[in-house]
Amino acid sequence: MLGELEIRESAHADTAAIESLYPKAFPDEDLLPLVRDLLQDAAIAVSLVGEIDSQIVGHAIFTKCGVVGSSVKAALLGPLAVAPAWQRQGIGSAIVRAGLQRLKDADVSLICVLGDPRYYSRLGFQPDALIDPPFPLPVEWDSAWQSQYLDNTTEACTGRLTVPAQWQQPTLWAP
Ligand SMILES: CC(C)(COP(=O)(O)OP(=O)(O)OC[C@H]1O[C@@H](n2cnc3c(N)ncnc32)[C@H](O)[C@@H]1OP(=O)(O)O)[C@@H](O)C(=O)NCCC(=O)NCCS
Repeated sequence: MLGELEIRESAHADTAAIESLYPKAFPDEDLLPLVRDLLQDAAIAVSLVGEIDSQIVGHAIFTKCGVVGSSVKAALLGPLAVAPAWQRQGIGSAIVRAGLQRLKDADVSLICVLGDPRYYSRLGFQPDALIDPPFPLPVEWDSAWQSQYLDNTTEACTGRLTVPAQWQQPTLWAP
């Protein structure tokens, strides 16, 4: 019988397992340089793994960000990967929900994501026309730029999301 899913912050010892996950989940995209860069900076990233029977089956990163002209505490979700053999079993959703809870506990208000709205809408994200992405997106990605607020104290803010250096590559924001 399979063990339970445990979600925890990643440790240095998880690096190899995390790095082996991405080429499998994203065979057409090389996200490893981004993932490696983000993992090296614990100050800016919340990195969570999903583990079953000591095997890492999923991983997500939330990068701490800001909004130009606002003091709102924000984060960007991505990348998110679940090993192909473990997809569609609720693991990705569980990791995202655990991350949202941790960020809420840390008084982060705004979470942004660039991804498929059919998936992220289930996790509380909605298309966002008020917060601008760090780089202009193609029109067909309009609905892929989404956000959610983790508290009700924040008035809807406007402005451009500011991202740390690891995310400041236009190729990460284009098809
Ligand atoms: C996308 C991904 C993270 C989802 O994780 P998961 O554990 O498989 O997803 P969950 O079990 O939490 O949710 C499954 C539901 O999401 C839907 N879903 C899964 N991947 C989806 C995708 N890429 N687009 C839209 N919906 C998706 C499924 O239809 C499923 O719903 P259903 O079983 O009712 O049809 C995972 O499939 C994955 O790593 N895919 C490859 C990499 C990728 O595309 N990452 C997304 C980054 S934006």
